[in-house]
Order: sequence, then C-alpha cells, then structure tokens
Amino acid sequence: MDKAEKVMNLAMRRGFFWPAYEIYGGVAGTLVWGPYGVLVKNKVIDLWRRMFIYNHGFLEIQAPSIAPRIVFEASGHVDSFRDVMVTCESCGRKYRADTLLEEAGLEVSEALPLEEFDRLILENDVRCPSCGGRFSKSTYFITMFRTTIGPYSDAEGFLRPETAQNMFVEFRRVYEDFRRVFPIGIAQIGRGFRNEISPRQGPIRLREFDMMEIEFFFDPRDDSCPYFDDVRDEEINLLHEELLRSGGSEYETMTLDEAFSRGIIKNKYLGYFMVLAVKFLEKLGIPRENQRFREKLEGERAHYAVQTFDQEVKLDRWGWVEVSGHANRSDYDISRHIKFSGKELFAFRRLSSPKKVLVKEAIPRPRVIREAFGDKIGVIMRELSKYKPIEIYEALDKDGFIEVAGVRLGSEFFDVKVEEKVVEVEPFVPHVVEPSFGLDRIVYAVLEYAFREVGDRVVLSLPPIIAPVEAAVFPLTRDSGLVELAGMVYRDLKDSGYMVYYDDSDSIGRRYARVDEIGVPIAITIDYRSLEDDTVTVRDRDSWRQYRIKRIDVKTFIDLVLSGSGFVEAAESMGLEPL
Ligand code: GLY
Repeated sequence: MDKAEKVMNLAMRRGFFWPAYEIYGGVAGTLVWGPYGVLVKNKVIDLWRRMFIYNHGFLEIQAPSIAPRIVFEASGHVDSFRDVMVTCESCGRKYRADTLLEEAGLEVSEALPLEEFDRLILENDVRCPSCGGRFSKSTYFITMFRTTIGPYSDAEGFLRPETAQNMFVEFRRVYEDFRRVFPIGIAQIGRGFRNEISPRQGPIRLREFDMMEIEFFFDPRDDSCPYFDDVRDEEINLLHEELLRSGGSEYETMTLDEAFSRGIIKNKYLGYFMVLAVKFLEKLGIPRENQRFREKLEGERAHYAVQTFDQEVKLDRWGWVEVSGHANRSDYDISRHIKFSGKELFAFRRLSSPKKVLVKEAIPRPRVIREAFGDKIGVIMRELSKYKPIEIYEALDKDGFIEVAGVRLGSEFFDVKVEEKVVEVEPFVPHVVEPSFGLDRIVYAVLEYAFREVGDRVVLSLPPIIAPVEAAVFPLTRDSGLVELAGMVYRDLKDSGYMVYYDDSDSIGRRYARVDEIGVPIAITIDYRSLEDDTVTVRDRDSWRQYRIKRIDVKTFIDLVLSGSGFVEAAESMGLEPL
C-alpha cells in the first residue's frame, strides 16, 4: 500500500474526505470533505486570509460562480480553455491525449497541433488503458461546464473555471468604492469548476474545487513593490526556463534577489507572492526542500500569461504536483473586458504636472427630445447612454446628426461644449499579477506530510494551528468524580472558543490512539490526583510525552502550543512537571 492509499484510507475512516455519490457508484473527480476535513480547510483558509489578504490590506469579494458566455469570450477561455481528447474506437472511453502520452513516457506540450498528437499516438502504439483498443483522431474538448441561465436556451452561461474573472469584471466598482486606492489586491475564495475529461487522480484532479486567488493590480510604470525588501534574502527553489531548456530536472536554490537580478523572475510582485507562498506551505508543514517553482514555458502557459511559475509539492504517488500558480497576466484581462464591455476599466495615475486639455462633449437635452419624440424618449436615452459624450460630439461634428433607435438627432438635441480643462491624472490600463491556490490539493498535501506511522499506529502530525480539534478531554476512568471534573474542563474550553473533543469510552490508550489519528495536538486527562490538587495531565500527540499542569493554566498552555512553540518547549517554558 503506498502512502496515498494509506492517507485516503485514514481520510475515509476518520471523516476527512471521501469520494462523492458513493451510493450511486460515484462520480470521478468529485469529493466530499467530511467534518474534520472541513475544519482543516477552514483553518487553512484563515491562515491564507491573514497572510495574503489582511496583512496587506487587500480587499476580498464573493461573486457568482456562474457567468454569462460573454465573460469567458472576453477572457479568452471559450477559445483556449480546452484539452485534446481521444476516444477509444472499441469501448468508447475518452481520454486526455497528453496524459496518455505522458503515461507512455513521452514529454508533450499541450500546445502541439492535433495532427502531432495523432502521429505520436500512432507511432508509439498508444492504446486504450481500459480495453487495449485503438484511438480515433484527436479533437478539442472545452473543459468549462456549460449551462443556460434561466429558461432561455440562448442565455448561455458557464461555471467559472477560475475565480479570477470576477475580480477583473468587478475591478472598477471596487476601485471606485474604495477611493481609488492603488495598487490594489482583490481576493476571492470560492469554487472553480473544470469539466476534466477523465480524472483519475483522486483528490488531486477534481471537477469542482476551492480556489484562493488574488488579482493584484499595479501600474506597469511602477513595479517597485514595497514588500520586496522584506523577503529579498529568502531562498526559493526554481526549476526555471534556462534549466528546463538544457534538459534539467533538478531545481536550483537561490535568493529572491538573485532570481530577480538574473532576470529569472521578471516582476517583483510576482517574486514577493512566490516567497509568501513558500512560507505559507511551510507553516502548513510542507518543508521547503519538497517545494519548488516550475516555470511554464511558452506554449505551456495559459493564454493570458506572460510569465508563470507553478508552485509544486513533492507527493509520494504523484511526484511533483502543482498546488499554486503565479502568473503575470499583464493587462490582458482588463484590456479584453474593456473591449468586450465597452466600459472604461481604467485606473488613474497622477501626472507629474497638471495638463491643459480641450474637452469636447455633447450631452443629451431630455426635455427637447421628449417634446419632439414623446414616449420614445426612453428608448432614445437608453441608446444614447451607450455612447460617450465625446463620441456623440464627433458624430455631430462629422455627419451633423447621430442616429439612434431609428431617429436622427441633430445638434439642437444636445448641449454641445468645447472647454479647456486642467487635469491632474491620466487613465491607464492596470497590469495584474496573480497568486492562485488550489485549496483541495493543498489540504491533501498537508495530510500526506502530516501522516506518520509509529509501529502499527497512525499519527497525524498536523501543525497545531490547522489541527481540526485543538484539544481532547478525557476522564481517566468513568468514575463519576472524574467525569464531572472532565465535563467542567471540556465546557470551559469550549466556552472559551476552542475546538474540543470529549471521550469517556474505551481504554485511555485507545482514546489517545483515536485522537492521534485525527491530529489533535493536546490530550488533557483528568485523573485521581486531579480531584485532590486541581491539576490535570497534558499529553503530546507527537512525542507522547506527558506533563502535569494546574487546571487554571491549561488555556495558556494551549495558546502557547497553537502559537507555534513546540509542545515540549511550551511545557518546559512553563516549568511543567514531566510524568
Ligand atoms: N486563475 C488561475 C487559474 O485558474 O489557473
């Protein structure tokens, strides 16, 4: 049994996660997070919010998962978010062509033309893994879930494959509502959906998953990044373009400063978020040496990116697996949404000195329009609102009229103005870097790194801050005095906001074993001495060492452990008596 199987067994046995719709035979690429899994996920989200959003004063939104087709036409996903698919001519099963070729030991770029996929499959005699049949010619498959919004079949929509588009679409609203603070990070934590062709990697490749994303909007003329100096000496592991092109597969470790000055990471904000991502995973228990950033080469990168690094974690069964992506999306998305929506999604920069400009505009005169066209004014005004005042001015200037809703309006229907104005700011299209995290994969990786076997026992050594339950409370036996005191300790901790687990069944050894499997870092036991001197024992999940502590000091001790002091260090710093 490999480690992935052991982790999945534990996850199912102890309520972390399991395959969805099991009673109907299951649906590949779907997962249920169970009660302990949800607790861990929420704590990982809390940590991410603190490290990535609150720490920088960024702004978080929650927007719909479903979007009209135009959003993903503008974003380029309708044309580019697709995989190459082949169908077995014998059994009809469908597969991703690149995955089949990779499983046959061939490195392929997703950007190859379809004929190349067909040639490689034929030449290497790649057959259906299920029945050994031959494959049809390859085709493209759009990996977004398509639906209709409401009852009209032409109101096509898609479930979002990334939360990012919401931040682009809502950029102007957030920017204006928050007094044009800039640069600005807009974050979202929410579901993404990808209609994978044949997901076969359990919790690693899901069709519906949680994402934590930031779109950080900045001025391309000023990417100086105020956070950079704080982390410039941090080391990161890079499998960068130069290494990849020379056939390298081992990462190179260097400081962020070196990566930037050698031109490997081309944008300071991008580099800053990459270092933060390393620290984040470290806090979750994934050591730095088992993390790397793999640069995406031209042709591998998403259509919107000018530079991308995938943060990868080494997993036991699947090798290096992407858990976050760090992309410089330049002005691609905002420019596309400006084009498709016709709206001015600009940010403003202050000019070094004020400038005089000639402002030409034609503003509709509703009273005059009503007098001439009566009730038709509604539709006329609506049509006119699609034009900017300068556009109306230019139409009047060129043709002498503007035609809307089937009527020609001459200059008498407008206040036509030409004015000199002094402006202090100029509009520009913001550029964006994006750190984007896949929460489900991260939590799976965290569980795999926390998983330990000690003899025939399993211990889930989760970092205490993300343990689903912070403390367990056990009366040593079911003696009524012990049960009563244990109940008081349990309620007191719960009332103070801790997640606590109470158990008075079974032997104390079995109870310890159970909470070790759930990853509870502290087990508190009420024994006979507790009734005499109001002390209890605290047991460390990882070393199994025990100490005696005054009942009144238990919360201070839990807080110390949760703050990241090791259990033994916390016990020693409080001068606790070892058992
Ligand atoms: N927003 C990045 C991604 O979907 O991969």
